[in-house]
Amino acid sequence: MPGRNPVEGRHIALGVTGSIAAYKAAAIASALAQEGGLVDVLMTPQATQFVAPLTFEALTHRPVVTDMFRLSNSEISHVVVSHSADVLVVAPATAHTIAKLALGLADDPVSATALSTRAPGLLAPAMETGMWQNPATQAHIQTLRDRGWLVADPVSGHLASGATGEGRMAEPEQVVDIVHQMLGRSGDLAGRHIVVTAGGTREPIDPVRYLSNRSSGKMGHAIAEAARDRGAAVTLIATVALPPLAGMEVVAVERAEEMRDAVLHLLNRADVLVLAAAVADFRPAQLADQKLKRRDGVPELVLSTNVNVLEEAKAQRGAARKPFIVGFAAETENLLGNAREKFAKWGIDLVVANDVALEGSGFGSDLNKVTMLRIGGDMVDLPLLPKIEVAHRLLDEVIALGSKV
Ligand code: CTP
Repeated sequence: MPGRNPVEGRHIALGVTGSIAAYKAAAIASALAQEGGLVDVLMTPQATQFVAPLTFEALTHRPVVTDMFRLSNSEISHVVVSHSADVLVVAPATAHTIAKLALGLADDPVSATALSTRAPGLLAPAMETGMWQNPATQAHIQTLRDRGWLVADPVSGHLASGATGEGRMAEPEQVVDIVHQMLGRSGDLAGRHIVVTAGGTREPIDPVRYLSNRSSGKMGHAIAEAARDRGAAVTLIATVALPPLAGMEVVAVERAEEMRDAVLHLLNRADVLVLAAAVADFRPAQLADQKLKRRDGVPELVLSTNVNVLEEAKAQRGAARKPFIVGFAAETENLLGNAREKFAKWGIDLVVANDVALEGSGFGSDLNKVTMLRIGGDMVDLPLLPKIEVAHRLLDEVIALGSKV
């Protein structure tokens, strides 16, 4: 589908500088090329000591710029790249290159491209701990942030020196995730705020035990990712810690009450509210102060009705019908019958009926089989698809239905 992946068909200039982490740039180039990105790699002379240009040429199927004065169709190659780039990623970025970028020096293909391009930039610093923490490097990083560069912060871990410390380059997946965020800014949800709930709530019994359900949070996570990739400002209210996504606000909650509070707090600001979380309908009536002990015998668990996030959000938005509300109906039987009943009862804008009993679909899986029920009563039945694709189809519906979003 066109326009789904913000990387597809876009020009990504990837500047590789002379650090042992240069091998990780191969994984970045490979991932972006596989997603349909047009990846133009630029290398400093030092970078070519670590990885051969041929590696990048083979991965991207495009020429690699290693020479400041090489011509491409009678034009200087790095100038061509700097003009075509939709984003410039410098990964790994050494302390020396960071200093050059801050000062505006331009004596190698990477720094020259950085100076001439208008594209937004991302740095993935990689260096020894002392270099990273040095006030000179930190000042340069701040200068670059002030000019609009994003930084994939280095992490603590094993360094080339054999020591362990801060300065290790962010993982390629994280760099690619930030590239998605940057390229998604101009997407069809730019300017919209989407709030997504994800995961099963945990309702405490005592300080160590809780009642919960099989929801993995993956569907909500995928919706948050897809919305971000289409330019939305996203708040993810989640009970689970899945791999973090760049460029969104994450609110960690456990209980339904906390989820309700977080949702209602954001309700006025949200254009779209997607309730993908599996909220426990019942919670223990009593919360024991201390761990229940075996010697005290089998406890009698008395349950009470939990808060209903959907109903409260619906009531609070009133007649304005903003935000646009999407609810999920997780069913193990009579999918459409139950979902239609819920659609009529809830009076929200879109209901996504989720077949959680189907093999390979639903809780914990990376795939999902859903049917969407829209205002007016018609349905969109989707085949079993990866959750990220289901997320995009759901957002397509939100956009199509929501002249009001
Ligand atoms: N939901 C909610 N608060 C609850 C229960 C559910 O906000 N206490 C939301 C879920 O996030 C989901 C939708 O309501 O978007 C439907 O949840 P589901 O469990 O399918 O609906 P119920 O009305 O609880 O129906 P059932 O009897 O099948 O559990």
